[in-house]
Amino acid sequence: MSDAPVWTPDRTIALVGLMGAGKSAIGRRLANRLGLPFMDADTEIETAAGCTIEEFFERFGEAEFRAGERRVIARLLEGKPHVLATGGGAFMDPLTRAAMRDRATTVWLRADLAVLIDRVGRRGHRPLLKRGEPREILERLIAVRYPVYAEADIVVESRDAPAERTTDDVMAALHARAARQHATDQALAMPGDAAIRRLSVDLADRPYDILIGPGLIADAGRHCRPFVPKGRAIVVTDDNVARLHLEPLVASLAAAGIAAPVVTVPAGEPSKTFESFGRLMEQLLDQRPDRGTVLIALGGGVVGDLTGFAASVLLRGVDFIQIPTTLLAQVDSSVGGKTGINTRHGKNLVGAFHQPRLVLADTGVLDTLPRRELLAGYAEVAKYGLIDDEPFFAWLEANAMALLDGDAALRTHAIAHSCAAKARIVRADERETAGVRDLLNLGHTFAHALEAETGYGDALLHGEAVGIGMALAFDMSVAMGLCPEEDSARARAHLAAVGLAVSPRGLAGENARGWDPSRLVEHMSSDKKNRDGKLTFILARGIGQSFVERGVEPEHPRATFARALAT
Ligand SMILES: NC(=O)c1ccc[n+]([C@@H]2O[C@H](COP(=O)([O-])OP(=O)(O)OC[C@H]3O[C@@H](n4cnc5c(N)ncnc54)[C@H](O)[C@@H]3O)[C@@H](O)[C@H]2O)c1
Repeated sequence: MSDAPVWTPDRTIALVGLMGAGKSAIGRRLANRLGLPFMDADTEIETAAGCTIEEFFERFGEAEFRAGERRVIARLLEGKPHVLATGGGAFMDPLTRAAMRDRATTVWLRADLAVLIDRVGRRGHRPLLKRGEPREILERLIAVRYPVYAEADIVVESRDAPAERTTDDVMAALHARAARQHATDQALAMPGDAAIRRLSVDLADRPYDILIGPGLIADAGRHCRPFVPKGRAIVVTDDNVARLHLEPLVASLAAAGIAAPVVTVPAGEPSKTFESFGRLMEQLLDQRPDRGTVLIALGGGVVGDLTGFAASVLLRGVDFIQIPTTLLAQVDSSVGGKTGINTRHGKNLVGAFHQPRLVLADTGVLDTLPRRELLAGYAEVAKYGLIDDEPFFAWLEANAMALLDGDAALRTHAIAHSCAAKARIVRADERETAGVRDLLNLGHTFAHALEAETGYGDALLHGEAVGIGMALAFDMSVAMGLCPEEDSARARAHLAAVGLAVSPRGLAGENARGWDPSRLVEHMSSDKKNRDGKLTFILARGIGQSFVERGVEPEHPRATFARALAT
C-alpha cells in the first residue's frame, strides 16, 4: 500500500516460541535492524534472582518461577520499546500472556518438530530435555503450547535457514501488519462502520483481515480496492446467490473502479467436480486475466472452495477475496486457506492451501439463507465452543435462538468469535503438520461416514452431519470413560434445542435402521486424518476439552453407531 506510513516500532516486540525456535538469535538481529535495545527475559530473571533459572526451579519450584517471571516481564514491558526474547513457558502463563498482548506486539517464531530436534540436539544444555527423550518431550510441548502461542499477534515460520533469513521474514511480517492495519483503518473510517468487526489473521507469509457485519457487500468496492491494485477482478458465484446478492456487489465494485465480469456456476456440491472445475478455468481464461487479476468468490463453501482452488492454479496463482454468504462459509470454510474439489475417491482430495487476501462476511445475507442451511452452519459455530471454549458454549446456550432468528449484533459476535477461534487454530498449524488443526475436525470422522452413506447430497448436509458427529463423539468419549455423562448430555441438549439432529436415526428416518455399523466404520478408513491405517478421533474430556486421539480401535465407533441406531 503506497500511502501506508513507514513502520516505526512504537511498542516492544516480544518474541515467543519453544526452545530452539531462535528467539535470542533472531531477537538480537531484529533489535539491530530496528535500532532498538535487545533484552532477554531469562537473563533478566537470573540477574534479579541472583542464580540460574535451573537453580531457581530446583530451589523454589515452577509456580514461584512463573510468578517471578511475570514480575520481571511486566517491569520490562513498562519500559521503552525494545525487542524482548521470552522463555518458552512465559506466554503459557495467562497473566504474563495478557500483559504481553496488552503492551507489546507479540511474534511467535514457529518451528517444526524436525527443525527443533535438529537445533536443540546440537546444544545439549536444555534442562527440560534432560528429563527424557527429546523428540517425545518436544512433541508433547508442541501439542500443548502451539495452540496458545497462536494467540500471538504475528506468526513467523522459523525455518531451517540462516537466522538472517528468518529475521527478514519477521521484518516483512511487522511491516505487512502495520500496512494492512493502516489500509483497513482507513477503509473502516466511514459512518456506519462502527457495526463492522475486523479480525486479523496474521499468518506467516499471507496475512489477511476478516471484516464481519451488515452491509459489507453493498460496500465491497471500497473494502476490496486496496487488494485489487490493477482494478481487474472476476467474480465467481452460483446461480442462487447471483439472483439474491450479485447486483449490489457488481455495482459497488464498479463504483470503486473495479472492472469485474461474472462467472456463474450451478449451485450445489456438483460444482466441485473436475468437470465443472475445468469449465470454470476455461471461462476464467475467456476473460483474459493476467497475474494481477483478482478472483472474488461470492457464495457458500462450494463457491469458496472452487474459486480458491482456481485462484491457486490460474496462471500459476492469482490473489482471491472471499465473500462468504452461508453461515458455514462465514465461520469455517472462508477462513484457513483450504481450497479444493472432489473426486470419485472422496471429497476435497484435490486442492491447495491458498489464503485469501481479504474476507468480507456480510451478516445481512444470512437473512435469505434457508433455515436448514443456517442451522447446518450453526453446528460449526457450536463446534468452537465444544472444542476448547466452554464460556463461548455457555454464551451460545443463552443466545443461539436469538441469533438464529436474526439478531444482527449477536450474529456478528458469534461469527467473529468463531473466526477468531478458527484463525487461532489455523495459525498454530497452518498446513496440518503439527496435529493441532485436527481439533477442528471434532465430529467430522463420524460425519464423514454418515455423508458417505447418504451419498454427500441433500439427504444430509455437511453441517447436519457434523452436528450428529459431535453428539456421537461425546457419546463415545463417555463410553470410553473419558468424559462425564453430564457434559455429553449438555452438548446433545443444546444441539437438539436449536433444531439440529443428534442421532443418525432421527435424520435418515426408517432407512437408518437398516444401516450397518461396520459399514459406517469402513467409510471412516478413507478419512484424511487417519495415519498408518489407524482411526483418528477428536474426543472430549468435557465441554471445551477436546483432544486428538490417534489409533482408536474400530470397535469403539462401531459400538457408538450401534447404540445410536438402536431404537
Ligand atoms: N475449505 C474449508 O475449510 C471447508 C470447511 C468446511 C466446508 N467446506 C466445504 O464447503 C461446502 C459446503 O458449504 P456450504 O454449506 O456453504 O454450501 P453451498 O456453498 O452449497 O451453499 C448452500 C446452499 O445455499 C445457497 N446459498 C448460499 N448463500 C446463500 C444466501 N445468502 N441466501 C440464500 N441461499 C444461499 C447456495 O446456493 C447453496 O444452494 C462443502 O463443499 C465443503 O466441503 C470447506
